[in-house]
Amino acid sequence: MLREYFNDLNILEKNRLAARAYFKRPIKNLKGMWNFKFFDSPKRITENVILNKADQSWETIRVPSCWQLEGYGQMHYTDLYYQFPLAPPLVPIINPTGVYKKEFNLNEDLTNKEAILRFHGVDSAFAVYLNQKFIGYSQGSRMISEFKIDPFLKSKNELTIVVYKWSDGSYLEDQDMWWFSGIFRDVELEITDQVNIWDYKFKNKFDQEYKLADALFEIKVRGLEFIDKKNWTLRAIIKDQNSVLAEAKFKLKEKIDFKFEKLVVNKWTAETPNLYQMKLEIYDAENNLRDKIEDKIGFREIKIKNNKILLNGKKIMFRGVNRHEFNQDTGRTITKKEMLDDVLMMKKNNINAVRTAHYPNSVYFYQLCDQYGLYVIDEADLECHGFELTSDYKKITVDQAWEKAFIDRIKRLVERDKNRASVLIWSLGNESEYGHNFKKMAQVAKNIDPTRPLHYEGDKNTESTDIYSTMYSSIEKLEEIGRNNNNTKPHIHCEYAHAMGNGPGSLQDYWNIYEKYERLHGGFVWEWVDQGIRTVDKNGNLYYKYGGDYGEQPHNANFNLDGLLFPDRSPSPGLIEYKQVIAPIKFKIVNLEAGIFSIENKYNFIDLGSYKLDWEIKSAGKIYKSNTTNLRGIKAGESQDIIINLKNIDYNKSKEAYYIYFTVSLKETQKWAEIGHLISREAFEIKSKQKHIKLEKLKEDNTGEIVIEKNSDTLKLNTKKAEIIFDKIKGNLKSYSYQGEEVLLSGPQFSCWRAPIDNDMYILKEWKEKYFLNLMKNYNEEFSYKQKNNGILVKTKSVFGGPNQEWFYQLESEYWVDNQGRIKFKFIGELRDPAGVMQTMLPRIGFDYQLHSSFTQFSWLGRGPHENYSDSKTSALIDLYEKKLEELYTPYPYPQTNGNRSDLSWLEISNKSKKIKFSSENNFNFSAHQYKESDFEKSKHLNDLKARDKIFLKLDYKQNGLGSNSCGPQQLSKHRLKAVNFIFELKMEVE
Ligand code: GAL
Ligand code: MG
Repeated sequence: MLREYFNDLNILEKNRLAARAYFKRPIKNLKGMWNFKFFDSPKRITENVILNKADQSWETIRVPSCWQLEGYGQMHYTDLYYQFPLAPPLVPIINPTGVYKKEFNLNEDLTNKEAILRFHGVDSAFAVYLNQKFIGYSQGSRMISEFKIDPFLKSKNELTIVVYKWSDGSYLEDQDMWWFSGIFRDVELEITDQVNIWDYKFKNKFDQEYKLADALFEIKVRGLEFIDKKNWTLRAIIKDQNSVLAEAKFKLKEKIDFKFEKLVVNKWTAETPNLYQMKLEIYDAENNLRDKIEDKIGFREIKIKNNKILLNGKKIMFRGVNRHEFNQDTGRTITKKEMLDDVLMMKKNNINAVRTAHYPNSVYFYQLCDQYGLYVIDEADLECHGFELTSDYKKITVDQAWEKAFIDRIKRLVERDKNRASVLIWSLGNESEYGHNFKKMAQVAKNIDPTRPLHYEGDKNTESTDIYSTMYSSIEKLEEIGRNNNNTKPHIHCEYAHAMGNGPGSLQDYWNIYEKYERLHGGFVWEWVDQGIRTVDKNGNLYYKYGGDYGEQPHNANFNLDGLLFPDRSPSPGLIEYKQVIAPIKFKIVNLEAGIFSIENKYNFIDLGSYKLDWEIKSAGKIYKSNTTNLRGIKAGESQDIIINLKNIDYNKSKEAYYIYFTVSLKETQKWAEIGHLISREAFEIKSKQKHIKLEKLKEDNTGEIVIEKNSDTLKLNTKKAEIIFDKIKGNLKSYSYQGEEVLLSGPQFSCWRAPIDNDMYILKEWKEKYFLNLMKNYNEEFSYKQKNNGILVKTKSVFGGPNQEWFYQLESEYWVDNQGRIKFKFIGELRDPAGVMQTMLPRIGFDYQLHSSFTQFSWLGRGPHENYSDSKTSALIDLYEKKLEELYTPYPYPQTNGNRSDLSWLEISNKSKKIKFSSENNFNFSAHQYKESDFEKSKHLNDLKARDKIFLKLDYKQNGLGSNSCGPQQLSKHRLKAVNFIFELKMEVE
């Protein structure tokens, strides 16, 4: 009875109905608890299992769900690796198979009715039995499969579904993600009149000015053979909220093509997601309503002209993300609410586009994109990436035996989503090289839908596609693409800025280039959300599992933690940065003297009538002047100047720099965000800071002498309030106490190391095994002290270097202590590398301090509030910020260095009674944690980190940029920290 179609390349389905559009009709959702039996191979499934009812020996499982997360089978994450030998189309005989059973009742009279059973997603292949009869078979995990079941339905029914983990389809489903199986999307029963609307296709045509639109429909009707169709009619109606836009009745036929002409419509764009309600109804000869479908349609035109992608005649930019369907608890099974949350989160973060990487998403997601306004690249469920690791990447791609299977995947995608306004571009799949089968796919897509351009990154010479797509191209490469204007196609960066761990860097650099060249259209960050699985350890601590954590082999470890959102969907600093980089409203200085700034509206279609601008002039957190204005009248794509009187401000009130801050927010509540929601925030320095921390400027104060206590190995300086101990042997500041309380448990220790970030993965070997950057130590050579002005100047000279390295830093450290216990640190680092062997970049140049654990309150004047690095700081404005220690920590699910704040003028750290202040004439970086840097390095999961009873503070001259080298280019040269000579001065005061 069990038919094994799952390893037969020529059988992609049995009795599956032709692919068609998805639209709204009343349905019965069969979700809930089903009976379940799990087998290691379909070969063990006897006929009885299929024919008999589920008895006590059966378990239950939620439908929809991924069975691995319900306790069945093996969790497995791989990027490229298939888990079985590549002998296509064969799949392993040990092929985990789940048998699902569900009983359901039907009270309806089914005479003259048609019943269709619809599966939105079953991974990877399945056979359907109803009331002991074989109904059909289908494969293709992320696509709809429908079967006609009315001939088999009774009032009491038992549905049996056999789901195979592996099928020949698995060869086409090697996307970088967890391998999940089962009925992971909804199962629906749709009952209609036997005469019903089977499918419809909508497209529109604008006039030259994009003022009037023709709406063109093609309708397919089913079941006419059962009736005398004379006097039966089809009614079509298009409405907006208030009124009917068009309406007509047609004689009922199997195919009805018609058009409504010259409609005055509000066009659909992501910025103006205007939709119209569309209804199609079938009436019988007595004018009884027999069938009805509803859908929402949008009028828009996507076109390519002169290397540009035009929507309704205007070039658009893709401020995009790649999105997998993922939830930290339920895997690829996600709720409508979660989809809506994602859409809202994207809209709120200025994102306007999604690539459904790398398969058709749940149909509801596109409805939301239509409704809220997101451009979609809709991708076919197709990836054969594992073949890249073999001698023949193209093996399946060029093999004509697979043509049918390839075509099946584009056909079902295009048919399903063809009426979605948000879908602007079809993508043929991902990472499967290029060849015959793709050419065929492209033809099929164009045949069904000539209106949308095609995308496929693997088609490097754009033979079949309309868009030149690349992934992870460097800035230089993008420049080259941008400049090349002859006989080319528009470019999309379908993946860039790999958001793995701490990063991505250079988002701003990418956007500077995208906006520079007409041919470039922006891109899609890889990726939206970390695919970590929420887990609680035996001590109740939360952490996230990734590849390998389930004992699976081979795996790709934490390569699936690469989203802009953490697995719990809280935003990472990367998302905060992206939001500002792609903010659609931006500012520029036109003439500072005259207080002229320009406001640029980067939206393509809307003016700024629903936005307001607040500006403030501030220094060190204090507001000196502010105002609010509306932005009415700034049209799409235009700029307008604003003049602000910068003259009548007393610039002597503060020694710190003065900035003007521009904040744009929503003036009116939108569908996707509340009034007041922040869209863009920028700051410009209008007066630079005064040099204010020269030690000479320390107050002359004769309240006390410095008492010097010498030991053979230590030097103790006692002022009235402070006790400062130096280790003469090691040549460092060992401890600093103030009013009897030990404040610094260890003084500044030079370091070039930080816990590696994921983007360091390729350079790490060089760093740790060639340069030993992680093992560099300070070797003191000289220790001396003398009186200077009203203080004592302690000086050390040392070599800072790594094992067996001929290059090193010569470090001179000065600690100038005054009689108040204030210290001015001066570190002079000179690279000694006579042979020029130091060729790598440094993770950081900075100094480690340890503080007493009570110092948990931080405030600083510098970039914030969130973490920032040299190539990720567009969103982090210089201002006065306050945070508690724990808020300075970014909990990357795969621990790594985090929490840097850059461009500081000063930092204050307090406990209940004391305050330590560090300040500098030059900007510096800081980060502080209850963890040692090496704790981040050693930990593999969040719960490995155990808070220590000290605070580890880093005050850094410089930190390396982030880049996105985990899957993309290294840091740009300007963000790469070279082993430079440096002078780093800081003042420390305690009070
Ligand atoms: C791309 C691929 C994605 C993902 C990413 C790395 O090559 O298309 O699916 O694997 O790299 O995270
Ligand atoms: Mg891949």
